[in-house]
Amino acid sequence: MPGNAPSKTAPAKMAISTTINGQSYDFLCDPRQSLLEVLRDTLHLTGAKEGCNNGNCGACTVLIDGEPVNSCLVLAVEVAGKDLTTIEGIADKGVLHPLQQCFLEGAALQCGICTPGFIVAAKALLDKKPNPTEEEIRFSLAGNLCRCTGYDKIVRAVQAAAERIQSVQPSGGTPQRKQAQQPQAQQQQSQQQQ
Ligand code: FES
Ligand code: FES
Repeated sequence: MPGNAPSKTAPAKMAISTTINGQSYDFLCDPRQSLLEVLRDTLHLTGAKEGCNNGNCGACTVLIDGEPVNSCLVLAVEVAGKDLTTIEGIADKGVLHPLQQCFLEGAALQCGICTPGFIVAAKALLDKKPNPTEEEIRFSLAGNLCRCTGYDKIVRAVQAAAERIQSVQPSGGTPQRKQAQQPQAQQQQSQQQQ
């Protein structure tokens, strides 16, 4: 009977509005599509990588409202109204983030497939805990797998980035770099006022 035939109608697409790397995005997606699939195939933000597609490798890590998630395990419809950060949003106007710089300087990558996930996950850690212990770094990055570099160089790179960020902006203080750039007259004036 025609009434019992399975419906061949595709599920209706859903309209989603979200913010990615500070920019507003509107897109249509299938309700079953993963965030990773939409990021890569619809929005052409291909920095998040598909390693396992089942939540085991961390190559697809992005931040949702500052929290690291495996984007292969999140439905795209879940990010409506959220604030996302992907690896494409980590550098600041073309200037590499200290994490990116330290990964390069410390040769903390080989094939690079895992690197966006490590950097995004490490950023989430340093944003919350600017001076983590080695144990805290290893714990935070435990969900990110690397098949070629080994983990020591990655941990060293995160430690180096933390030190670099701290040296520019010690917690609770004025960024040293800015202070150093203060005109001499201004510095003298502020000293006189003290
Ligand atoms: S691709 Fe998402 S965890 Fe591996
Ligand atoms: S650098 Fe190749 S998997 Fe990590």
